[in-house]
Formats: sequence, structure tokens, C-alpha cells
Amino acid sequence: MKFYITTPIYYVNDIPHVGHSYTTIAADILARWKRLNNYDVFFLTGTDEHGAKIAAAAKEKDKNALELCDEMSAKFREAWDLLNISNTDFVRTTEQRHVLAVNKVVQTLFDKGFIFSKKYEGFYCIGCERFYAQKDLDENGCCHFHKTKPVLQSEENYFFKLSSFQKSLLERITDKNHKEHIDIQPEERRNEIVGKLKLGLEDVSFSRSAIEWGIPLPFDKKQTVYVWIDALINYITGIGYPVDETKFQKFWPADVHLMAKDILWFHSVIWPAILIGANLPLPKKVYSHGFFTLNSNKMSKSLGNVISPKELVDKYGVDAARYLTVTLIPFGPDGDISWQGLTLKYNTDLANNLGNLISRTIKMAEKYFDLLVPQTIPNLWLAKNAAALLQENFASNMDNIQLHKAAESLQDAITLVNKQIETDAPWKLARTDMVKLATCIYSYLQAADIIAMHLLPFMPTLSEEIWRITGATGSIIETAKKYFTDRVIPETGFSVAGSQLRVSGILFPRVTE
Ligand code: MSP
Repeated sequence: MKFYITTPIYYVNDIPHVGHSYTTIAADILARWKRLNNYDVFFLTGTDEHGAKIAAAAKEKDKNALELCDEMSAKFREAWDLLNISNTDFVRTTEQRHVLAVNKVVQTLFDKGFIFSKKYEGFYCIGCERFYAQKDLDENGCCHFHKTKPVLQSEENYFFKLSSFQKSLLERITDKNHKEHIDIQPEERRNEIVGKLKLGLEDVSFSRSAIEWGIPLPFDKKQTVYVWIDALINYITGIGYPVDETKFQKFWPADVHLMAKDILWFHSVIWPAILIGANLPLPKKVYSHGFFTLNSNKMSKSLGNVISPKELVDKYGVDAARYLTVTLIPFGPDGDISWQGLTLKYNTDLANNLGNLISRTIKMAEKYFDLLVPQTIPNLWLAKNAAALLQENFASNMDNIQLHKAAESLQDAITLVNKQIETDAPWKLARTDMVKLATCIYSYLQAADIIAMHLLPFMPTLSEEIWRITGATGSIIETAKKYFTDRVIPETGFSVAGSQLRVSGILFPRVTE
């Protein structure tokens, strides 16, 4: 089975911040989860490099546009390396392979009569890279997202007949049994899209005559492809369209396009219309999460309140930075983050709950069993309880992209084990009942192994470390792949009696404000 997941391609006028990281880490967690479930995963991200905004940013910095794109695109790749993102490919819209894909789609739409030229006048917001009608602006004539006044522009442009797709789109979005059904999530946002769609669709700009920094239209080289049309096509460029037919057929349609709500309309209306027009299948799911703000302010370069991935990693370490970014607010609605909130969650979930489980268990094994998995009757009761709890709550939440809930169930499993440690009070057993102590320590190790396997998508490095610390045998990834297929815990457990444990350094040193 295959699974194809994408993030938006990010504009290179901005440096990667925690907002971009939010979507990318989430997509990475889902990609890793599907790999553990034996899917053949393709995970695509990249950078959006054409259009007015990028041209203006280059001019401002007195740089050639491509030079700016090379520099900034590299910063995104560096950020994703730092965050241990496992993308399969990285598309840049200035690459030749993308130009080929755009030409093919654009020419097909033109040949099928979906493109026409007309004179147009509208308010262009360079931040959104789109035209607005007066009625779409706020009472001060500003764009709702950027709070800036778009400029009235008039151009002879090519247009895409979006209006002729209203019926086909409505059917595909609302009818779950349609063979080309496109599932827009969360539901409230789907309802908004459907409501807007029902009001009717206006044709959209397909080219720009005034913007040189773009891909020339194959049928009129004086105009460039409108940056949004150019950008959306990246999702098929990345999997080989139109040159690698086998790869394209294997991975298209996308299983999930992930993004924030700001660009849901482009992904759930304009992109599907282009695909229907070009006779290509539609993505299965379009999922938009909320925006997060920092101390109640929208993160932006101009406000100077962006958090960079590096700041997060420096403070909490890579794995914890990944975990905190995606679990601090519910995945879907908007939410506010703060450094206090991040640190509190780090200390509660990681330093205290998970960190304590591992350190207490290993310390006792070191003190009383020479740092070996105790020889005892295999006691899998606790591991099985943790596994049952996770089986019930973890997988379905991961599959429904409710990452914060999946993480909550992990915390519940960790708490379950910690509570058992409190109840057993093994530190007292050392004086009274060494046989029981051995069984207890053994059972904590097995439960920790179950937890580590589920933690893998969120914390790939530390889960492997926990696996080694607890003396578990074999590769955690291969073991997890098998476990998620058959859900069977081996009779000897994963950490076999007599195996060598490792002393753990402090996995999650406490962080102070
Ligand atoms: N280039 C277009 C996307 C084209 S996709 C075919 C674009 N780029 S962007 O750089 O502005 O990225 C927007 C996306 O970045 C959002 O949809 C979201 O995925 C992510 N985020 C940026 N800031 C964010 C927050 N503050 N909160 C949540 N997500 C954020 O739009």
C-alpha cells in the first residue's frame, strides 16, 4: 500500500519559523507512522519561488531573484535537517522538472478550452499573491490576513474557467460515495468551503502580464503563469509528472495535503478544479490545521516575534522540540503558544512523566540487578495494559490526524506505568522481596518498550535510545513494523531476561524559564 503526503511549499521571502515547522513536523510524524504501518510512503515538501512577492524581496535585498531563492530554499532544507524531517523529495518551483510539469498542465487546460483572456481589474494583495474584490476586504480596505491595503491593478490576463467547475466540485466534496470524493477536514472548514461554493464561483486569474519572475505561458510567452497555479502543480512534479509515469501512477492521488486554513480554498477548490480540467484524479484528503499565535500575537517577521526551529531545538533538544510543537495546541483549531507553555509541557510530559519512568526503572535495575534485564517469570501484564490503552486510542487518532490526542494517549500509558511503580513501591521491595522486585522491574521495561515504539514518529532518536537503554533486542523500527501488523508481544517480552541495559544519561534535563 502507498501513502502520499504533502506540506505546502513555503515562500522563500521568509525564513523558516515555527509556523512552517508546525505543518512540516506534523506531516513527518504522519509519514513515519505510515511507514511503521508498512506503507510505501512518499512525503513531499519544498519551496515556492516565483511571483511578485519573491521578486520584490529580491529587489529589496538587491539580489538576483534566483540567487535569493537558492539561499532561502537552502535555509528551509537546513531547518528540516535540523528537525530530523524524513521527506522523500524537496521540490523547488524554479527547477526544470517543475517547469515541464507546469507546461504540460497549463497547455492541457488551454487545449481543452478552460483558459481565456480578458481585461481584469482587482485589488492585488502581494502577501497573499491573489486578487480580491472590494467586498472581500475589511472596512479599511485591507486584506484580512495581512492587514495591508492591496493595490488596484488592471491587466489583460488569461483566466481559468473556475466557474464551470462548481457542480463537479460540490458533488465531489459533499458526496462521500463519489468515486472521486475529496475529503476536506476538519468538518467546520469543509462546511465553510461548501457554503462559499454554493454561492457560485468566479473565474480566476491564470497568468500575470506584469510579473516577469515566473514560468512563461507555453501559448503566450509574454505572460507568466500565476504563482498559485504554478505552486499547486508542485504536488505532481514531486512524484515524477509528466516524465516518470510509473512513479506518478504509483503515488498519485495524494492521500493527504496538509496546510493551515489560510490556503485551504486554493487546495480544496482551485487545485481540484485544475485536476478535473486536466483529467487527473483528485487528492483524497485536504486537511487544514489552525494558526498558532505567540503570546496572542500573530507570528510575523515585522512584529519580530517569530520563534525559529533552532531556538526550540537549542532549548529542548530536537525530539522534544518536535513533540512540543505539534502537541501544545489541539490539531485543527487556532491556538496560542508561549515559552512558558512550552516549558511547562516539556517538564510535565517529558522531564517528569517519561523521564521519571525510564530513570527510576534503570536506576533500580542498576542497583539490584547489575544492569541486566532481571531473570524472572516473564510478566507482560503491565505491557499488555499499556498496549491495550494505546491500541484503543493511539492508532485511530494518528489516522484521523488528531496528533495532540495521540500524544495524550501516550502520556496516559506512561502515567499508567508510573502509577504502577508507585503502587508496587519497588524501593521497599528491595528489602523484603527480591523475587517480586525482579518481576516488577521486568514488567516496567516491557511497558517502556511498548511506549517507545509508539513514540517513534514523534521522537525518532530518543525512542531508539530508550529501546537501547531498556535492553530491547533488534531494531526498534523493524520490531515496531511487525508489532503494528500483528499486535503480538513476544512471550519473552522485547527486553529479554539477561540482556544488558544501558545507563541512561538524563534524557530530558529539566528546563527552567
Ligand atoms: N506558498 C504558499 C503555499 C503554496 S502550496 C501549493 C504559501 N506559503 S507560506 O510560506 O505562506 O506558507 C503557509 C503555510 O505555512 C500555512 O498554510 C501553514 O502550513 C504554515 N504556517 C505558517 N505560519 C503558521 C502559523 N503561524 N501557524 C500555523 N501554520 C503556519 O502559503
